[in-house]
Amino acid sequence: MFKIAASVLSADFSKLGEEVCAVTEAGSDWIHLDVMDGHFVPNLTFGPPVIKTLRPVTSLPFDVHLMIDNPDDYIGHYADAGADWLTVHAEILPHLHRTLQVIKEKGMHPGVSLNPSTPLSVLEYVMDDLDLVMIMCVNPGFGNQSFIPASLEKIRRLREMITAHGRDIQIEVDGGIKISNIATVAEAGANVFVSGSGIFGQLDYQATIELMKTKLKAVQDNT
Ligand code: DX5
Ligand code: ZN
Repeated sequence: MFKIAASVLSADFSKLGEEVCAVTEAGSDWIHLDVMDGHFVPNLTFGPPVIKTLRPVTSLPFDVHLMIDNPDDYIGHYADAGADWLTVHAEILPHLHRTLQVIKEKGMHPGVSLNPSTPLSVLEYVMDDLDLVMIMCVNPGFGNQSFIPASLEKIRRLREMITAHGRDIQIEVDGGIKISNIATVAEAGANVFVSGSGIFGQLDYQATIELMKTKLKAVQDNT
C-alpha cells in the first residue's frame, strides 16, 4: 500500500499548524516530522513540545524521524507528544535492538533509518524488531537536496530482504522525492514516500499529491 508522508521541514514554520492542516486536506497519508539536534546533523529543528501542539490539528499518523545523537533519552517524550511511528538512525546506536524494543514498549511502531553510505547488513539481526526501514536518499539535515541514484539499488535489495524475511515491513524513502521520480522509486520497491520541498515547494499541495498518487497507481496497476 503506497503512502505519501508530507515532510513539514519545508513548510512555512510561522504557520506550522495551518500547513499541517493544508497537507491533511490535500490528501497526505502521514505527516513526517524531522527532529534535528545540530550534532548528528548540521541543522536544528524542533522536539516534542512542538509535535504535541500539532497533534490536535490532524488525525493523520505522525511519522517522527529522529536525527539526534542520544535518542534513547527521549523515546518516552515522543510517545507522549503523539508520535505513531518513531524512526532512529542505525549509525549512532550501539544497542539498536534494545532501542527498538523500547519504542515498541512505548506503543509506537519502530523504524530504522540508514544514511546513504550505511549498508543494509546492519538490519540483518533486527528484522523481527522493526516495522519500517527508512532509506535516506540524501545525506540528512536539509530539504531540497538531489536524490542519490545509488539509493535505487539499495531499495531493490531491501525489498528482496523483506520478501525473504516474510514480515510486513514498510520501506520509506526520504530525500529528493518529487513528482518526476516517485514512480521509479516505487518500482524499485519503496512504499512510503516522504516529500518536503516536492510538496511544500508547490503552490497547489492537493494537485501535487494527487499527481504523485496517480503515478503510484500506475506503478501498482503494472505490477
Ligand atoms: C532531510 C529530512 C527530510 C526532508 C526531505 O534530512 O529527513 O525529511 O524534509 O526533504 P526533500 O523532500 O525536500 O528532499
Ligand atoms: Zn526525514
